[in-house]
Amino acid sequence: MRHLLLAVSVAALALGGCDKAADGGSGKMVVGFSQIGSESGWRTAETNAARKAAEQRGVDLRISDAQQRQENQIKAIRAFIAQGVDGILLAPVVATGWDQVLREAKTANIPVILLDRQIETQDPSLYLSAVTSDQVLEGRMAGDWLVKEVKGRDCPVVELQGTVGSSPAIARKKGFDEAVARASDVKVVRSQSGDFTRSKAKEVMESAIKSLGATKICAVYAHNDDMMIGAIQALKEAGLKPGKDVLTVSIDAVPDIFKAMADGDANATVELTPEMAAPALDLLGAYKKDGKAPPKWQQTPTKLYLPDTAAAEYERRKDQY
Ligand code: AHR
Repeated sequence: MRHLLLAVSVAALALGGCDKAADGGSGKMVVGFSQIGSESGWRTAETNAARKAAEQRGVDLRISDAQQRQENQIKAIRAFIAQGVDGILLAPVVATGWDQVLREAKTANIPVILLDRQIETQDPSLYLSAVTSDQVLEGRMAGDWLVKEVKGRDCPVVELQGTVGSSPAIARKKGFDEAVARASDVKVVRSQSGDFTRSKAKEVMESAIKSLGATKICAVYAHNDDMMIGAIQALKEAGLKPGKDVLTVSIDAVPDIFKAMADGDANATVELTPEMAAPALDLLGAYKKDGKAPPKWQQTPTKLYLPDTAAAEYERRKDQY
C-alpha cells in the first residue's frame, strides 16, 4: 500500500506540474524560455508576445537571452533544469547539437517545446512538441510569387540567407529553390548568409551589387524582413529603386516591411506569426494536467501580403508588440 501511495504521488508530481522549489510556493506553472536573442524585429515581437501570453495565463516565465549562441542556450537549459521548472520553451538557434542537453531535461522529467525553429535529431522523444510554421512552404510561396511576377523575363536573384545551420535558413532556401526550379528564367546568382540581421545583410547586398553590377540584379529574396530592410538601404545607396528596378520578397511580415511596401520600396512578404508562446504554453498546461502527449508539430499559419494592403497592415501592426 505504501508503495502504491508513493507511486501515485510521484506520478502526480510528474504530471501535475509545479515543482515547489521552482515556484517559491506561488503555485504557478514555472517555464523557462531559452530565446535566441534579438537579431530581428520579429524575434523581439516573439519575446514580447511570450511575456504577454505568460502574464495572461498566470505563468511564471523565465526568459534567457542567448545572444545568438548555442552554448548560451545549452547553459540556460541546464540552469532551468537545476531550478526544477515545469517546462522549457526552446527557440533553437541552429538545428543540430541538442541531443545531450535535451536528454538531461528528459531525465529530469521536464518537457521541452520547440518554438519557431525545428531541430535535427534521431530521437524525437527528446521534445514534447514543436510550434513552428512550415518553413519550406514560406520559401515556396516567396518563389511562386516571384515566378508569377517576372512573367518569363530573365531574372537574376540575390538570396540573403538566414543564420547558417538554422532550420529556417535551410528550409526557406529549399522551398524557394523548388519554386524557381520550374522557371528557367529565374536564377539565384548569389546566395549568402546575412545572419537574419539588417547590418550583415546590408554588407552582403553591397558586395553583391559591386561584384554583379547594379543593373544585373532583377530581384532580392531575403529569409527575413530585417535583412530585406538592410538590402533596401544598400540598393538605394547604389542609386537603385527597390520595389521598382529590383523586386523584393521576404518573410516575417513585420511592421517595417509594410512601411517599405506602402512607400513603394518593397513588393511582398510572407507572414510568420510571432504568437508562438501562447499555443506552446497551452500545450504544456494541458500536458501537465492530463499527461496526454500533444501532436509533435503544431503548425502556425502562413500568408502572403502585397502592397495593396500594406498601409492598413502597417497601421494595424505598428504598436502591436
Ligand atoms: O525562426 C524564425 C526566424 O528567426 C524569423 O524569420 C527571423 O526574423 C528570426 O530571426
